Amino acid sequence: MDSMLVFSSFVVVILLAISLQVFFFSPIFPDILEIPSSSKSFTTTFTSNSYLRRVSKLGEGYLDRPEDVAVDKMGVLYTATRDGWIKRLNKNGTWESWKYIGSNSLLGLTVSAAGHVIVCDADEGLLKVSEDGVSVLASHVNGEKIRFADDVVEASDGSLYFSVASTKFGLHEWYLDVLEAKPHGQLLKYNPSLNQTSVILHNLAFANGVALSADQDYLIVCETWKFRCLKYWLKEEIKGQTEIFVDNLTASPDNIKLAPDSSFWIAQVEFTARGLNFVHSSIASKHLLATFPKLINWVLGAYHKAMVVNVAADGKIIKGFDDPTGKVMSFVTSVLEYEGHLYLGSLNCDFIGKLPLTTSTV
Ligand SMILES: *[C@@H]1O[C@H](CO)[C@@H](O)[C@H](O)[C@H]1NC(C)=O
Ligand SMILES: *[C@@H]1O[C@H](CO)[C@@H](O)[C@H](O)[C@H]1NC(C)=O
Ligand SMILES: *[C@@H]1O[C@H](CO)[C@@H](O)[C@H](O)[C@H]1NC(C)=O
Repeated sequence: MDSMLVFSSFVVVILLAISLQVFFFSPIFPDILEIPSSSKSFTTTFTSNSYLRRVSKLGEGYLDRPEDVAVDKMGVLYTATRDGWIKRLNKNGTWESWKYIGSNSLLGLTVSAAGHVIVCDADEGLLKVSEDGVSVLASHVNGEKIRFADDVVEASDGSLYFSVASTKFGLHEWYLDVLEAKPHGQLLKYNPSLNQTSVILHNLAFANGVALSADQDYLIVCETWKFRCLKYWLKEEIKGQTEIFVDNLTASPDNIKLAPDSSFWIAQVEFTARGLNFVHSSIASKHLLATFPKLINWVLGAYHKAMVVNVAADGKIIKGFDDPTGKVMSFVTSVLEYEGHLYLGSLNCDFIGKLPLTTSTV
């Protein structure tokens, strides 16, 4: 009986220690998040079509998790890889390790009108990469270090608009921002003539992809865990006004890019409905996951799915392609339309996917 008592006390002490660890030393102060019902299933908007299984693989084995894709005026394709390189695909089909940055946190990139590559480094800020080397354009805003720069777009006046996913959590703890479900994201503007960075929008829910409309009248910024993208007006008369561009998306929007026909392509990171409901249903489950992050991939399931959608300039969803089991590509984070093809970046692949927009897919 005594040994039983000792054993029970031992179990109680262990459980107490775990609860203490989970609740009192948890890195987050979470809120409950309501998931829009349409955002629980792809099939409410589309019939799953598995088109993303038809991609061909560019640079397979050569590209370590290429999160984003950009193309310059000559048709040279650029990407930033997890092992710290800017790599490019020349027109003759050869890959080149162009510039070494030496950072493991490179995300969205764009090619500027001047032909420089502008890339977001989630640790350093906004970088400019040219034949001459790498320089930091923006590392601080309002005296604070820029944390988790995510995606960037250049306007015709040379301004660079870029997102900060979270001012509280870094790239390698991104899931904590999702769990906490408090809006720590920003949209920033870098003015190259003043060499100054300012905050355009704050309190964004994991600000991710940024795009400019074809007429440059507005910017779009996607809020990943709110399943929506906002429109921010640049047009003189209504400059600064913000409205919803598209909401209740079927999954979490990642990067967004302008298409040649003035519509937009959005890569959506699809978490499982079961996982999302579990994550957002209780404060306790959030603390548990924050303490044992290895559980997060199992719960969210982003590594086993892929999805992209095409959204018209008026915010109506036109079409979508997916791979419900992520057989060929999973965790697709960006989609670029160029000369009749889609180019797909991913945080879980060692290649860029290329999909022809043929009559069977349009
Ligand atoms: C999105 O869903 C919310 C409720 O979940 C609803 O209030 C809103 O009107 C919906 N938006 C659109 C464009 O249907
Ligand atoms: C392909 O193009 C690149 C850039 O123009 C050049 O450096 C390279 O030598 C070319 N390779 C071949 C095999 O033509
Ligand atoms: C831009 O400003 C930063 C500090 O905010 C400074 O470190 C950098 O040297 C400046 N760049 C140029 C080109 O003046």
